[in-house]
Amino acid sequence: MDTTAKTRAYEALLPQAGALVSGESDVVARMANVAALLHREMGWWWTGFYRVLDGELVLGPFQGPVACTRIAFGRGVCGTAWKERKTIIVPDVEQFPGHIACSSASRSEIVVPVWHNDDIFGVLDIDSRELDAFDDTDRHFLEQVAARICAD
Ligand code: SME
Repeated sequence: MDTTAKTRAYEALLPQAGALVSGESDVVARMANVAALLHREMGWWWTGFYRVLDGELVLGPFQGPVACTRIAFGRGVCGTAWKERKTIIVPDVEQFPGHIACSSASRSEIVVPVWHNDDIFGVLDIDSRELDAFDDTDRHFLEQVAARICAD
């Protein structure tokens, strides 16, 4: 998807994500519908959330093939995004040291922290079957989507 098409797609889905989230206060229900919306509209391979629970990341609502259920702090792309408290874009997962391969079809990935005030509540993890699928446009819009998950 080129940048213009991607921007248009995100601009169309942001209000939908906002409506889904503002109509429901339960965070798991919010994550479930946001994962479904993103996955269906953007055509990714895997779209979902991990939550921080008792010091590790635990699988939350997602769309796509079955995935690893628990990820330690600092491990894989998800654990690294949690540790570094920032969005991580991986153009080629084979080049990322310690990448956790839940699916061999996944070629590139973006992981966006989900904040609750100043704490990391979890991460939004998205995988593509294409190399280099994610860029600053994705970061820009997905950080806005992630910011709504725990919003009042
Ligand atoms: N690849 C991730 C693990 C989660 S699955 O992709 C769904 C990682 O290295 O953090």
